[in-house]
Amino acid sequence: MEKSIFSSDHHILVRMVSRLAMNEGTGEVMKSALLKLRRKMLLHFFREETYLFPSIQTFVSHAFVLGLLTEHAGMLRMIDKILAYIEKGDLERTSDRMTGLMRLLLVHCQREEREIYSVPELSGKIYEIDQKARKDRMPEGWKCAITAKYERR
Ligand SMILES: [Fe+2]
Ligand SMILES: [Fe+2]
Repeated sequence: MEKSIFSSDHHILVRMVSRLAMNEGTGEVMKSALLKLRRKMLLHFFREETYLFPSIQTFVSHAFVLGLLTEHAGMLRMIDKILAYIEKGDLERTSDRMTGLMRLLLVHCQREEREIYSVPELSGKIYEIDQKARKDRMPEGWKCAITAKYERR
C-alpha cells in the first residue's frame, strides 16, 4: 500500500532534522534550513490536528492525543529556541538542542506510527483522511492547539 501523507511527512521531517543535527553549514544556512523545517512541521501538525486526531477519538485515549498535541507545541518551541541560540552564536546549545529535537521527533513519530497509523481499524480510514488533508491548505497564521491555548491566557 502506498504511504499516507502522514507517513511521508514523518519521513521528510526526520530527514530534515537529522541533516540539521549533523550540524553542517554556517549560521545562516542552518537558520534557513530550520525555518524550512518549522514550516514543514507546522503543516504536518495542521494535517494531524485538523484531520487525523478528531477522527481517531474512538480508538485512542484522550490523554494519548493530549500528549501528542503537547509535543507538537514543544517541538515548535524548541525550534524557536534553537533559532535564538543561532542568533547569539551559541553553537554548543544549538547542537545540544538539535540532538534533543531529533530524539523527541523520532519518539513522537514512532508512537504515532505504532499507535495510530497502523491501527487496523484506522488504516483504511487514514487514506480517506489523507485525501482531505492533502488537498487543504494551511490557513495563514494557523497555530497548533496547545500554542493557541496558551497564547489566549
Ligand atoms: Fe504528531
Ligand atoms: Fe506526525
